[in-house]
Amino acid sequence: MRRNTISDIRKMKEAGEPIAMLTVYDYASALIAERAGLPILLVGDSLGMVMHGHDTTLPVRVRDMIAHARMVMQGSRKALVVVDMPFLSYGTVEEALRNARRLMQEGGGQALKLEGGAEIAPIVRRLTEMGVPVMGHLGLTPQSQHQLGLRVQARDEAAARKLLADARALQEAGAFAVVLEVIPQELAELVSRELSIPTIGIGAGLGCDGQVQVWHDLLGLFEHKPPRHARRYAEIGAEMEKAVRHYAVDVAARRFPTAAQSASMTPEVLEKIEKDLKDDLKG
Ligand code: KIV
Repeated sequence: MRRNTISDIRKMKEAGEPIAMLTVYDYASALIAERAGLPILLVGDSLGMVMHGHDTTLPVRVRDMIAHARMVMQGSRKALVVVDMPFLSYGTVEEALRNARRLMQEGGGQALKLEGGAEIAPIVRRLTEMGVPVMGHLGLTPQSQHQLGLRVQARDEAAARKLLADARALQEAGAFAVVLEVIPQELAELVSRELSIPTIGIGAGLGCDGQVQVWHDLLGLFEHKPPRHARRYAEIGAEMEKAVRHYAVDVAARRFPTAAQSASMTPEVLEKIEKDLKDDLKG
């Protein structure tokens, strides 16, 4: 079985086939996403929050992304695996090349995602010239959350025009796809029409060529309310808690383990050992 490539993803846009992308961060979730047949898996730097418990994505380091990318590569066979370049790991072309090499050689990812518009186009261009498939990310870019806040982006005319220009600049620089996060759906639809590369939306409406969601939001792993753009397809967190409580109660009541979870030895062997113990006691 061969992995999906960026050309498979491009063909999905050409065929009008919606692209489902999901963040995954470890071996077990990659196995599940792979069985579910997702064409793209994103090792998102959202792992800083959902896996490491930070408040933002900013503390995530290149070495964290490498560790999680390796787990995801181990659990997936077919999906295209995209890895986020973390905060301030691609400030210059040299730095971007150095960290891209680490993320791809040590982490094993097939493509990298970078947040930013026309200002990072020279970096995107150099990476793609050197053979690195790049996915862009516009709109609400969490690495700039201290500048942008966490609200809907590009609502007014100037900001909407800028986002469209940024999207074009990324495409022109060689990006193979672009994530559009939390922008008006009308704008996302327009950008998706204007670009020949696929747009992947999160909180950007149905007009995008694909959608991306965060694993923990989709599966209801946390108690707190997920962001408005997320839909919970299951309440796995509550199910997990129920199972863990049940286990603790069974241990307390000595109902676990039973014979089914235990191994036995023959009575003859046991008798022999017990007899030897008694003989030792007698002296
Ligand atoms: O890090 C992440 O999970 C992301 C998606 C939300 C697009 O960038």
